[in-house]
Amino acid sequence: MTTALITGATAGIGAAFARRLAAQGHNLVLVARDTERLRDQATELHDRHGIEAEVLSADLSTDGGIEAVEKRLGDRRHPVDLLVNNAGFGNKGRFLEVSMADELTMLKVHCEAVLRLTAAAVAGMKERGRGGVVNVASVAAFVPRGTYGASKSWVVQFTQGAARDLAGSGVRLMALCPGFVRTEFHERAGMGTDNIPGWMWLDADKLVVSALEDLGRGKTVSVPDPRYKALMGLVKIAPRGLLGGVTSRTGRKYGPR
Ligand SMILES: NC(=O)c1ccc[n+]([C@@H]2O[C@H](COP(=O)([O-])OP(=O)(O)OC[C@H]3O[C@@H](n4cnc5c(N)ncnc54)[C@H](OP(=O)(O)O)[C@@H]3O)[C@@H](O)[C@H]2O)c1
Repeated sequence: MTTALITGATAGIGAAFARRLAAQGHNLVLVARDTERLRDQATELHDRHGIEAEVLSADLSTDGGIEAVEKRLGDRRHPVDLLVNNAGFGNKGRFLEVSMADELTMLKVHCEAVLRLTAAAVAGMKERGRGGVVNVASVAAFVPRGTYGASKSWVVQFTQGAARDLAGSGVRLMALCPGFVRTEFHERAGMGTDNIPGWMWLDADKLVVSALEDLGRGKTVSVPDPRYKALMGLVKIAPRGLLGGVTSRTGRKYGPR
């Protein structure tokens, strides 16, 4: 039996990864801050699928939280075969409206934690000659979309570069770039969603099925769903100025502070 460690496993895309991987018979290490929610989820997945689900409470915006997960990933007696770096969030507001402390917290969770956890996991995977890492980025990585998009661009570039450096080692790395997904993300960030057209929304469970298929195919960047594949094709040829005008507005309507 293999083991997968998922960060941000209590909600949205991370919870969908947990459901899918448990159904496929993988043991799980579930990481997030809300211990009670993690425990409930671990019990449910164990009861439904007969897998072992460990709970690891950690705040990935802190050094202590990142260190705790690094330690688990480095445990050679209980190897982790698949790491899903999924934890993330959006800040409420545009550039200069968000405090520098909140901007830096985002970089800590989206970039530093992803860098450190990937390194901690891949060291052992390389020795064993097999393993996988999915780093959840976003299609926002490819368009002008505030500091959030910039942090996700880093995730894509980092993952592609590391995948190239590890080619032939048996370890696969893939950046997953979803479009809008119905999760807790927008509500937590205080973002209104009424200016996002219905056809742009993706389902988290279907997204995860596509993502795991793409990982199996050896892709280093996955943009699930034909709608977003077509949109990203247009992004490559659209004038940058026009693109910035459209993409920096869509889905960035912030409610009252
Ligand atoms: N939803 C979208 O439209 C969309 C689109 C593209 C990419 N994404 C990306 O997908 C990933 C998952 O987002 P989602 O939409 O599933 O959001 P979500 O429903 O809000 O879930 C976020 C998860 O991350 C955890 N988390 C947040 N901050 C954390 C921290 N400091 N330490 C540890 N865990 C933390 C949360 O659990 P706790 O609160 O218990 O810690 C929760 O389990 C993110 O990286 C996001 O940027 C989302």
